[in-house]
Amino acid sequence: MAKIPIIIDTDTAQDDCVTILLGLLDPAADLRAITMVAGNVAFEQQVANAHLTLNVAGRLGQVPVFTGCRRPMLREWASAQDVHGDGSGGLSMDLADIEAPDEHAVNALLRLTAEASGELSIIAIGPLTNLATAVVMDRSFAGRVKRLYIMGGSNNGRGNITPSAEFNFYVDPDAAQIVLDAGFADVHMVPWAPLTLRDATIARADYDRLCAIGTPLARFFQRICDATIDYDESVGVDGSTHPDSLTLAVLLHPELVREEAPYRVDVETASELTRGMSTMAWEKFGLAPNARVVEAVDPAAFRTLLHDLLSIPTAPTRPIAGL
Ligand code: RIB
Ligand code: CA
Repeated sequence: MAKIPIIIDTDTAQDDCVTILLGLLDPAADLRAITMVAGNVAFEQQVANAHLTLNVAGRLGQVPVFTGCRRPMLREWASAQDVHGDGSGGLSMDLADIEAPDEHAVNALLRLTAEASGELSIIAIGPLTNLATAVVMDRSFAGRVKRLYIMGGSNNGRGNITPSAEFNFYVDPDAAQIVLDAGFADVHMVPWAPLTLRDATIARADYDRLCAIGTPLARFFQRICDATIDYDESVGVDGSTHPDSLTLAVLLHPELVREEAPYRVDVETASELTRGMSTMAWEKFGLAPNARVVEAVDPAAFRTLLHDLLSIPTAPTRPIAGL
């Protein structure tokens, strides 16, 4: 089976790290680059979290980590540090000799999609600032991207950072709207509600079983996810949420998808009350669709996929303090 070439655009914390592991270790994936965008936690911490993830998989230095936009296009940066802590559970490693490429992540996105036009799929699991900037800089960028998989919004459901907005779309709603209007040919979206809350939230007992597998990856998983499951349970979510890794999983393993439908997706940018809220108009409203929204996946198969991933024996490239 031919591997799927991908770029992961990420605000690396918790579930973003699991997504990078999937991109590195799933037989169907060919991870070409990681591009960093301002989101979950402090930008340099996100970069460190990406290298920790490459390290625990034994792949440190083998995938370029490009640094991108350090703030949203128009808004002040909004953090999710209350949700994730530092995003890697206090783990640390020697980063002294690891230099970010000089090339900005947006320029890397433009270059890589020009060098492999029509071949690359982008997995966008943070605010869409890098992608929107690429669209603004080069109108032909969208046409060079084979598939765009986005974790963002809610399908006419509750938000998480506000009652109406999901975090990625809240942080940079202007970027989200630019991307949704950009004419990407094949867009798939994994929303927070109802999908993630129903099908991609790992209940505590199942979470504990994943943490107890006994591999370096399982220990890493526990360290990076413990803060978030504690937060999630404190706000009434029944377990550990994994929308980001589901976003890559449905590209690599489309058999996971039980229901998906075309929608016209738009994002609120004018109102402060509902900033970042996504409206997803289904066929009834007669609007030209700009995305296929995943409506249901097989929860047990997704848990099995995570279990199989975390069971892979890896040897970290260099010591990780605390693991
Ligand atoms: O709202 C969910 C998104 O924000 C995910 O990308 C996750 O990383 C969280 O921080
Ligand atoms: Ca994310």
